[in-house]
Order: sequence, then C-alpha cells, then structure tokens
Amino acid sequence: EKSGYPHFMLKEIHEQPRAVMETLHGALHDQLIPEAVELLANAEKVYVTGAGTSFHAAEHFSITGTRLAGKPIISFISSEYDTYLPAAGEGDVLIVVSQSGETMDSLKALRAFKRKGVRVISVSNVIDSAIPRESHVTLYTRAGPEIGVAATKTFTTQTTLLTYLAVRLGEATGQLDAGEREGILRSISSAGELVKKALEDTGERAKKLASAISRSSSAYYLSRGVGVPVAKEGALKIKEIAYIHAESYPAGESKHGPIALVEKSFPVVFVIPNDTYLETLLLGNIEEMKARGAFTVGVGPEGSRAVELLNDYIPVPRTHWALTPLTHTIPLQLLAYYAAVEKGFDPDKPRNLAKTVTVE
Ligand code: M6R
Repeated sequence: EKSGYPHFMLKEIHEQPRAVMETLHGALHDQLIPEAVELLANAEKVYVTGAGTSFHAAEHFSITGTRLAGKPIISFISSEYDTYLPAAGEGDVLIVVSQSGETMDSLKALRAFKRKGVRVISVSNVIDSAIPRESHVTLYTRAGPEIGVAATKTFTTQTTLLTYLAVRLGEATGQLDAGEREGILRSISSAGELVKKALEDTGERAKKLASAISRSSSAYYLSRGVGVPVAKEGALKIKEIAYIHAESYPAGESKHGPIALVEKSFPVVFVIPNDTYLETLLLGNIEEMKARGAFTVGVGPEGSRAVELLNDYIPVPRTHWALTPLTHTIPLQLLAYYAAVEKGFDPDKPRNLAKTVTVE
C-alpha cells in the first residue's frame, strides 16, 4: 500500500496537494466554523496548544491569528499546561491541535482547562478520538491516515485549516484589511497547486543538499515571524528521522548566544518567509552567519534578495505570507527524508518513537 513509493513518509509527502485541498473544502463547508469563530471572537483570552508537530501548527495559529485578527493568542506546549492554567478561566477558549486526538499531554491540558470553565475547540484528523470527544467543538483536517511516524501531511493540513480560521476570525474582529483578506483567500484557494509546485520544484535540490548535510552532526534552522514554526518543524524532522542534532530559534537570537557554536561549514538553514519585511531582517542574520564561515542554505520565495548571500538556495512558489508552512515545509520534509535514506535509516521507523504518545 505504499503505491510504488519506497516509504510511507515519501508517499505521504506526495499526498499533500490533495490533503490540503480536501481539508480546505471541508472547512469551507463546515457548519462548525462559524461557531468556532464566534467562540474565539468573544473570548477574553485565546490559548492554543499541541505537542511536537502539532505544537508548531499551534504556533502558526498564534502568529497568523494575532496578525490577521488583532487578537493576542497564547501558544504553549501541551505538557507545559500547568504554567498557563492559573490565569485561565470562564470566558477563555483553548484550541487543542492533535492529529491523532489521543496524545495524553494534550488531553490532560484539555481536561485541566475545561475544569476551569474554558471552552475547548479541537483540531484533529481522527473522527471521534479522545480529544474531539471531550471538546465543545471539533474541526477536522482531512489528511487521511498517516502511517509514517514523522508527521508530514497532517502539518500542512493543520496549518491550512488554522490559517483559514485566522482569516475568519479577522473578519469577525473587523481587524482584517479587505485587500489582505482578498490576497490570502486567493492564495489559499490554490493551496493544492502551491504544494504541488513546491514538490515538483524542490525534490531534486533537497536530495542533493541532503547528501551534503547528512555528513554534519549538528545544524541550525532559523527564521523570523511566520517562518519560525516552519523552521522548528524542519529541525524536528531532521532530528527524528536522520538523527542530526538540529536547533531552531528566531534568527535575532543568534547574537545572544548560539552563534558561539558556529564555525567553518556549520550548516545553517534559513527559512525566508513570503514577507519582504522579514526577508530584509533575515539578510543581516545570513550575513552574520556567513562571516563565521557557516554553510548557509535558504528556503524561500523565487527571486529573493537572499540568494546571492547564500551557499545554496531552494526556491519555493511566492505566495501570501500566511501560507509559508504550505510551501517552505515541503523541501524541509524532503531534506530530512533524503538525509535519513542517505544515512541508511528507515524514515518510517525512527528509533525510540511511537506514532501516538498516549502516556505522559
Ligand atoms: O497526534 P498528535 O498530533 O497529538 O501528536 C503530537 C506529536 O507526538 C507529533 O506531532 C510528533 O511530534 C510527530 N510525530 C513528529 O513528526
């Protein structure tokens, strides 16, 4: 059932154009979206949580929701819920993002917040799993079953759904500018084609880069703003299947410590979002890494000004900034996949990991 692909992970990476389109169509017709939007718009505080890849999707919602709807959205890793609980109460809303709907850390966060009177919206890929069963409202992604332990199509479907939710929230709060709304809806309606193009354009380059990176024991994945959760997701992928130590942090932090580790040929992957302001800021961060002899790689829009500064560049389709996870994640998934294969590991069966973590 790998449909001719050597691994489920590669098959699932290639299923993304369809998965994101089906998720978007589902969301466009979902009667529960208005209910979720109303809850969010009227909420005193909005929290969003998840674990691992689902936390990265949660962070994406925090960034897009804050930027498009002008409403602060607090993201946290589900196992850290204790820290956030004291301030939560009636009138607040928690969004729990969980592909499987069974992750114990996320379920425990849900239960604790619910006990304090918080309303819960879940985003899940598995109908009637534990987290949806205990939520007030559930919005489903339509990725289909994901067999590979590494989350791939579930991340791009989660971020598609959550980006759409952020747009609807922006309409409800009245903070979303009409032109911006138009632009984002136009881009999101072609999400399937964007992902398809990213797959076609980046596969070969990611494979080539994988053979260079697979010799390294460590790497940084850096970005700013909407690119940060994507960079974190790229680092998680290469850690979990290719066993390369990868650290991801917002690029402005380099000078506050991490740059001390950078020496000649140290790989630094820059995620350059579809946003000229963030791109301009990143140029300085690329320069500072280059000055230390780092091996710099960029994943960013075609025609970026960063190209000439970098050692290697993987261009992705230029689209609305909020859709950065849909385009930029693709080569990062492929990079991790090919690095694992190059090193002789089975990407479908990473050591020490289970697909669904039902223990605390
Ligand atoms: O099923 P969930 O989305 O709740 O799972 C959360 C994490 O365990 C999961 O995203 C994990 O980080 C991925 N398998 C990593 O690729």
